[in-house]
Amino acid sequence: MTFNALAKILAAASLVGWLTGCGGSSTASTQTPSTATPLSVAQALFAEKALSASGKMACASCHTDDNAHADATGTVLPLGGASLDQQGFRSSPSLMYLASNSAFRFDANGLPFGGFTWDGRANSRAEQAAGPLLDSTEMANANVAAVAQKVRGLSYFSDFVSQFNVPTAPTDQQIYDKLRTALQTYQELDTDYLLFNSKFDREADGTYTFTPAEQRGQAIFNNANQGNCASCHTSRNGPNGERPVFTNFSYAALGLPRNPLIQKNADPTFFDMGLCGPKRTDLSARTELCGQFKVPTLRNIALTAPYFHNASVSTLSDAVGFYATRDIDPGRWYPTVGGVVQKFNDLPVAYRGNVLKTAPFGQAVGAAPLLSAQNVADLVSFLQTLTDDRTAPQGSLTVAR
Ligand code: HEC
Ligand code: HEC
Repeated sequence: MTFNALAKILAAASLVGWLTGCGGSSTASTQTPSTATPLSVAQALFAEKALSASGKMACASCHTDDNAHADATGTVLPLGGASLDQQGFRSSPSLMYLASNSAFRFDANGLPFGGFTWDGRANSRAEQAAGPLLDSTEMANANVAAVAQKVRGLSYFSDFVSQFNVPTAPTDQQIYDKLRTALQTYQELDTDYLLFNSKFDREADGTYTFTPAEQRGQAIFNNANQGNCASCHTSRNGPNGERPVFTNFSYAALGLPRNPLIQKNADPTFFDMGLCGPKRTDLSARTELCGQFKVPTLRNIALTAPYFHNASVSTLSDAVGFYATRDIDPGRWYPTVGGVVQKFNDLPVAYRGNVLKTAPFGQAVGAAPLLSAQNVADLVSFLQTLTDDRTAPQGSLTVAR
């Protein structure tokens, strides 16, 4: 029994009683005094398979506790839809450390920042929840009314009403909106989403000492002329001592290899181009943004395989290896057709120039690597220090020095 799991089970205790006692009946008794809290109700909704068309898929199915709220499958994309046979084309990101993210925007220099999902098209976590509830490859509800009907049928519907101030005689839309609020609330209230108690945090607090490999990895990560990782995956405290979440929520095109395991990729004219579409539709004319995806947090990265938006890389060591050898040894990453390596083959030819070529990228084929095999191993050691301890309490949110 882990610390956080125990705390949550205590919080959800009344609800567990409801769930086992009422067995999905829609007539919840009003006699039993409820000890439900917003967190206990919201957590149950996040794990509620009855909210999907299949009856077998919850938010938690693709965002599991043990995988830092990313997907547990490891190498392939999860299947959703009414019969659990529909595949999407993006990997499920960790939902941890999103609290400091904000709505999508272009900054003063015209650079994209923020937003939720890999292309930032949702402005909040509540807005984002509409995606999976209605997506035909995920929870696959036909419409808002179908979702509302399922919520009304939950044994703990009355707890949902009381904890989330659902109006009397609510419309379907009101139920749907409150559901999305509840799902966001869960991610805000549950301390699992902001643990800040990894070895990295303990090192900052002076209660852990990095091994030599972890220490070397950190130096490479922060060195602008070598890994340059920290230029996107922020690794230093914020101005008020806020701990780094290993992303600045900016965007970049890394030119990842096409993933042949994604069914949609059997169509050679299909391309997932991130900011410029097809999931996002408002920036389709901004072709200079094609190929750009949001920088994800690297906290708990050891738990969230497969990697990158298209799940094209299955191990952490290969994810780091991609940065090291994409340009000096492209044949390792892209298929060769007629003797020619198909570099950046997951983008239409016209947009391949958008791909990032600065450090750690940018060397000629066959050149000496900026990151040696030993550097890659050290970086992996450092990244493994970013795994939180779910058996321990939340760490302090600011560093006391
Ligand atoms: C079938 C698997 C699946 C299910 C079920 C699912 N998600 Fe996701 N989730 C994903 C994928 C894939 C993405 C990335 C989507 C994109 O980029 O278009 C994602 C993205 C997200 C994000 C944005 C994360 C970020 O870094 O911006 C949030 C928040 C989220 N999901 C919450 C939820 C909630 C709440 C539910 C239940 C209503 C849910 N998910 C159900 C797969 C799933
Ligand atoms: C220019 C910004 C930038 C730099 C520099 C950068 N990254 Fe990234 N990183 C990204 C973006 C953007 C993604 C997501 C790309 C995608 O999926 O299309 C990403 C994804 C990752 C992932 C996979 C995350 C996941 O959840 O799937 C790992 C691991 C990673 N980076 C490690 C590193 C390391 C190690 C370095 C330094 C050697 C580094 N990054 C340098 C922008 C950057």
